[in-house]
Order: sequence, then structure tokens, then C-alpha cells
Amino acid sequence: MKRIDHIAIAVADLDAAEVVYRDTLNLEWGGREEVATQKVLTSIFKVGESRLELVSPTAGDSPIAAFLRKKGGGLHHICFEVDDIEAEMKNLKDKGMRLLNSTPTPGVGGSRVVFLHPKDSSGVLVELVEKG
Ligand code: CO
Repeated sequence: MKRIDHIAIAVADLDAAEVVYRDTLNLEWGGREEVATQKVLTSIFKVGESRLELVSPTAGDSPIAAFLRKKGGGLHHICFEVDDIEAEMKNLKDKGMRLLNSTPTPGVGGSRVVFLHPKDSSGVLVELVEKG
């Protein structure tokens, strides 16, 4: 695990949340990007070597839509950057961690990502990313 790549916050109203993080908290805004595979629209903020991502659903069956219905928004996941995502997946599987997808899926900016079961990491959803 090289560093925290990003922290994701689930929001129902992306416009309103953007105003707070960009204009009130004064974070450097990096624009929006849709991640079709996750059915989400992300709004990206640069914070040093890491990013903060506001994530909102683009469809009712998006995982973020389910999260908003259940928890009403808030911290959704923490993402760690790795060099070799397949090697790390095997390593974690060998240690008994459950992975939510068996192969890496496309993430923001041509990256590949995998999610770990939150019950295996103290209740927080963990994402691993290998940069594209
Ligand atoms: Co993420």
C-alpha cells in the first residue's frame, strides 16, 4: 500500500456538496468524471498527494444509491494505491480477506480497482487502485 489515493464521500446532491467542498472548504477542484461501471458521477478535489471524491449515483441500482438509502450519505470508502493489483488481491485472499469483485474493474482515469468486504476491515469499505 503506497499511499491514500482518495477518500470517497457519498452524497445525494452533488451540486450542493461541491459548493461546500470547493467554495467553503476551499479545496482545489479537479472537475467531474462519470464511472459508468459503478453508475456514479464523481466530483474530484485535490488535497496534496491524495484526493477527495464526492460520489453520487446516476441510477437507482447504483451501489451508491443503495448506500444513500441505507445510511443517508457520508464516508463511503478509502482507496489505497498499489503497484500490482493482481498480486495484492492474491496476497489478501491468501490472508482470508473477502474481495467484492474477483477481477479488477475500470475506475477513474483508466485505473483498475477492486473493493474489499467492509466486514473484514473494521466496517470501512476499502478500495485498491492500480493506476492506468
Ligand atoms: Co474510489
